[in-house]
Amino acid sequence: MAEAATQEIGLFNRREFLRLGFWAATALAAAEIGGAALVFFWPKLKAGAFGGEVNIGTLEEILPQLPMDAVPLYFREARFYLSHVEDGLLALYRKCTHLGCVVPWNYEEDQFHCPCHSSLFNRKGEWQGGPAPRPMDLMGIDIRNGEIWVDTGEISQRTAYVPSQAVPI
Ligand code: FES
Repeated sequence: MAEAATQEIGLFNRREFLRLGFWAATALAAAEIGGAALVFFWPKLKAGAFGGEVNIGTLEEILPQLPMDAVPLYFREARFYLSHVEDGLLALYRKCTHLGCVVPWNYEEDQFHCPCHSSLFNRKGEWQGGPAPRPMDLMGIDIRNGEIWVDTGEISQRTAYVPSQAVPI
């Protein structure tokens, strides 16, 4: 009876319990490593917070990470993507212009792809498909003494991309 009590733990026998514990610990470790890696790869803000002006670093720091037509850099804390197109830099608000889901970059498709209803946007935030009624919204960019500042409190809507929306560099 005592032996049965040590062998059986609820619905699991000892071996199943140990196996379950092993996989749970492995999954937890993988989640922690994955989370740490994501935090490591997301660029950090130098100053400020969402809702106001943020400093994302100097042109010398940012441009080597963001050549023209590279995958846009995601500034998660400030809720925008920095995109480098032929006319300069764009700060694209991450919120989908359909119903507001966070729009991730899809590496395989090489475009933004909203997970909610499949609206698609290119590097300029231009609408490419799906129910979104307009391009991705923009935040204002100001380059002062080589430092890039993005005003996350100044979000503007647009109907189409025009070159003057990009900040020349
Ligand atoms: S919220 Fe993005 S497509 Fe609907």
